[in-house]
Amino acid sequence: MIKAIYPGSFDPITYGHLDIIQRGLGVFDHVVVAVAHNIDKQGLFTLEERKALIREATKDLEGVTVDSFEGLLVDYVERVGGSVIIRGLRATSDFEYEFHMASINRHLNENFDTFFMMTAKDYFFVSSRTIKEVAMLGGSVKGLVPGNVEKALKAKFEALTD
Ligand code: PNS
Repeated sequence: MIKAIYPGSFDPITYGHLDIIQRGLGVFDHVVVAVAHNIDKQGLFTLEERKALIREATKDLEGVTVDSFEGLLVDYVERVGGSVIIRGLRATSDFEYEFHMASINRHLNENFDTFFMMTAKDYFFVSSRTIKEVAMLGGSVKGLVPGNVEKALKAKFEALTD
């Protein structure tokens, strides 16, 4: 049984992430979506909100669990019995950062490999950061994020401008 860990900030989850989860399930038996708790990075959504949004968006997918972690990713992967780390690659601009991160992780623990999947062409331009900016400025993010995320973004920005 190969358990893959798909780590990230997921602030919030997008269709690009969902596509990687679905395709990851075609390769691995189980995918754990692991939301990183980053004390340096103040997110729009809390850790619990992010997890709830991911749970809702993946509820029809078999073989997915949603979790969060603090500290080093490789320690988390070891603790939960993961075999591989999955990351999505959008374009060449992602490569340097991803290469660096995979190399550090491999240096820290050579038992795990990072498995890269190219993001589907429809979502090449989608990132959580741009989604938040578009939503904050009143633009439509329909078709780029799951429906529950679209609603949550709207509610979040309405609450912030109240
Ligand atoms: O979605 P993101 O923000 O690109 O995800 C980055 C993430 C969370 C996967 C990365 O920052 C991470 O693994 N953080 C945990 C801390 C860690 O292990 N750092 C060493 C590798 S850079």
